[in-house]
Amino acid sequence: MSLFGTIANNWIAAQKPYQPGRPIEEVARELGLADASGIVKLASNENAWGPSPKAKQAMHDAVEHMNRYPDGGSYYLRQAIARHYGIGDDMVMLGCGCNEHAVLICNAFMWEGDDLVASQRSFVVYKLVSELFRCTCTLVPMNGMTHDPDAMLAAIKPNTKVVVIGNPNNPTGTILTQEQVDAFVDAVPDRVVTVFDEAYMELVPPERQVDTVKHVKAGKKPVITLRTFSKAYGLAGLRVGYAMAQPDGIDLLNKVRQPFNVNAMAQAAAVAAIGDQEYISSTRKLLIAGQKQMTDGLRALGLDPVETVTNFIMFRFEKAAALTAAMTKRKVIVRPLAGFGLPDYVRISIGTEEENATCLAALAEALKEI
Ligand SMILES: Cc1ncc(COP(=O)(O)O)c(C=O)c1O
Repeated sequence: MSLFGTIANNWIAAQKPYQPGRPIEEVARELGLADASGIVKLASNENAWGPSPKAKQAMHDAVEHMNRYPDGGSYYLRQAIARHYGIGDDMVMLGCGCNEHAVLICNAFMWEGDDLVASQRSFVVYKLVSELFRCTCTLVPMNGMTHDPDAMLAAIKPNTKVVVIGNPNNPTGTILTQEQVDAFVDAVPDRVVTVFDEAYMELVPPERQVDTVKHVKAGKKPVITLRTFSKAYGLAGLRVGYAMAQPDGIDLLNKVRQPFNVNAMAQAAAVAAIGDQEYISSTRKLLIAGQKQMTDGLRALGLDPVETVTNFIMFRFEKAAALTAAMTKRKVIVRPLAGFGLPDYVRISIGTEEENATCLAALAEALKEI
């Protein structure tokens, strides 16, 4: 029976929804486990060490006020972010994770038939969202596992409205340098919005981090920088991310968002989290050890991981789907990358020392089975 089929917007009906990393609870149901606590999820690049204690306290303190609507303008959070970057609070706009910003950016800047330029092996949401708005997405071949900025510039057509650079890039874990980014901004036409999706930037060693907020501040080109509280800050469950741009860009994004798109608990936790930069430094230290543990461990198993600057690592394995299934059976959730245009690659988020060890042990067994 097709109750809605005849009334459906055919364009939307044909879209394929985004496939996120599988939730722990879903895998527990599949494995018939009443207790999900033994399952290790290394599939969504979360902060394995949890939120900062200050953010946790802020959440406890906020509970009493959950009968009230949130501040629709996220005043205190915008202030805290603006202070952190030395920009005006009219240059900051909050979203329900920066996934929401992908939708808002397409909604604000793209019209049916326009084009969005991104890289072939990058975050798939931009392609999905541009198609939702009846636009096209040009996926540009990469330089191996790294963006090719010259090829991206060459791919800009008269109908290109937006170009997105994920830096560091998900799922490859590679990063463009400051020089490459600066040269890109210099060369990109004024009529194209450049979006730097920096969901993982806080996890990169400080000496390799790239500053795009200076281009936002300079106001010479329409640049938007996206950051999130989902990764380094360990608040993925609360769904809060932010865009930084010149005030006229922020005004446009505010026109297409819902009035209460960031909940009150998220706002309170994020204010505390951005005020606790020591926690971010300590996460980075733990991550460096985790990167080494996983890189060495994968190599010891005969795999050849791509060098990563952030909290996930990928490697080539021809039977990626079978390997993922064999890992799931062993209660470790990893991510096959077919949806990212890499059908023979697997991505593993870097977890705690114990989670990484469990993952490597499961991988050793799974590889024998396949
Ligand atoms: C490159 C990239 N951008 C954006 C996001 C979205 O993050 P969130 O919506 O949780 O802020 C993700 C999440 O995995 C990502 O990998």
